[in-house]
Amino acid sequence: MAAGRLSFTNITALAPMVRVGTLPMRLLALDYGADVVYCEELIDIKMAQCQRVENDVLQTVDFVAPDDRVMFRTCEREKDRVVFQMGTADPERALTVARLVEKDVAAVDVNMGCPKEYSTKGGMGAALLSDPDMIEAILRKLVSGVSIPVTCKIRVLPSLEETLNLVQRIEKTGIAAVAVHGRFKEERPRHPVHCDYIRAVAQAVSIPVIANGGSLDLVKTNGDIDEFRKATGTSSVMLARAAMWNASVFACEGPLPVERVMEEYLKYAIRYDNHAFNTKYCLCQMLRDKVESPLGKQVQAAQTNAEISEAYGLQEFYRQTQNQLQARRDALQSGSQPVRREYPPQITPKMFLLEWSRREKLEQPQYETVQRSQDRSFQSTVTVGDKKYRSSLWEKSKKFAEQAAAIVCLRVLGIPEGRIGEEDSGLVCKRKREGKANGTTEEERSKKRHVAEIQQETSKIPATQSAQTSS
Ligand SMILES: Cc1cc2nc3c(=O)[nH]c(=O)nc-3n(C[C@H](O)[C@H](O)[C@H](O)COP(=O)(O)O)c2cc1C
Repeated sequence: MAAGRLSFTNITALAPMVRVGTLPMRLLALDYGADVVYCEELIDIKMAQCQRVENDVLQTVDFVAPDDRVMFRTCEREKDRVVFQMGTADPERALTVARLVEKDVAAVDVNMGCPKEYSTKGGMGAALLSDPDMIEAILRKLVSGVSIPVTCKIRVLPSLEETLNLVQRIEKTGIAAVAVHGRFKEERPRHPVHCDYIRAVAQAVSIPVIANGGSLDLVKTNGDIDEFRKATGTSSVMLARAAMWNASVFACEGPLPVERVMEEYLKYAIRYDNHAFNTKYCLCQMLRDKVESPLGKQVQAAQTNAEISEAYGLQEFYRQTQNQLQARRDALQSGSQPVRREYPPQITPKMFLLEWSRREKLEQPQYETVQRSQDRSFQSTVTVGDKKYRSSLWEKSKKFAEQAAAIVCLRVLGIPEGRIGEEDSGLVCKRKREGKANGTTEEERSKKRHVAEIQQETSKIPATQSAQTSS
């Protein structure tokens, strides 16, 4: 498939699957030959609260919830192929989320097919099928608000006429494609798929239609994918369960032995620090009826990716990967890029804040630091005179995080923070006196520092910390 705007014609896609469609599974599906990979459905309210974080250690982009959970992790490799599926019943919020992820994904999709209560109770998923006005409002908002393609995934309605009316209305919103799961809302996955409905939809609209629902009885091997295409009259097919059980269904030579597929999956899970419970869940889906085998029991008993690796004899891979990630972490912490210094050595924002607090007869500033799990970076909050200040940025070390909090506090209070070139505040006189006592004036040393571009702890504090204060 050519690079550029994602095409939905003549593709084979990994379907959106809650818990299954996380990064390791998506990368595995791409390896085996899927053209497009959908992420699991992510609910707009939760996503809207997330912060976009570039994870330099894992080399991923993470969307992190306020409780530090990574809601969505993606990477460069899938950027042109990944479709972000959201659960939404609110056009404004849908747009907020689409814009949040727009630069990191190839398309956004709205789930209109999920009959599960967690989705329908908020008017999302399959509940949208009975509210075409809302469908239209959401899709129009997205199409006009983002630069990447917008798609949706529906189930078929009780009559063919209703189904065709709906898709024709959907088509007019300007979306790029529609995925059709050929089952009614009330039907379970074991029911036969209505290929005739999908075929009629494909004939009624001119946008690409992606046929879905064939995993159980129609698509078991790669060769069956074309049969499903023929049966539904579509050029594109989307697979959920067949891929969840054995992702090599996407490979022309597939399916490969599931043991091999599980190993490849686990390697991605280790490499991208996938949550162990998610890794276990996906492996158990692949194990299927072997989930009570000795291997299955070992997987189920495991609590960490390290323990899961042991079950598959991948301890050495796990160890090497951890070493590589640690080496990257260390390199980042020691700062391999020389940064132009903003602060002279010895004089730090923390020091300025301390001296100012003393002058104001306030208690010594108190720093509290937290570390988040996904990239082990730090954020500090400093309490000064009963008020709390913290930078919204996460830092590579506790020391930087404290300095960042001190900068925010000094800037909010309008106090000089000790940057080179800043007007002398009269603070940190003690240091100046010490400088003279050592036979060098502060001015002389400061001149030397100006030209130096060396590694120095305080030099790495970003100049534009955004202030966040709370009483
Ligand atoms: C574990 C699992 C999770 C699913 N989660 C989603 C989801 O997040 N969004 C969605 O639109 N459909 C979801 N589905 C439905 C599938 O995308 C697909 O429509 C359905 O399984 C029929 O396709 P298949 O016959 O290829 O399995 C899920 C299905 C499974 C098995």
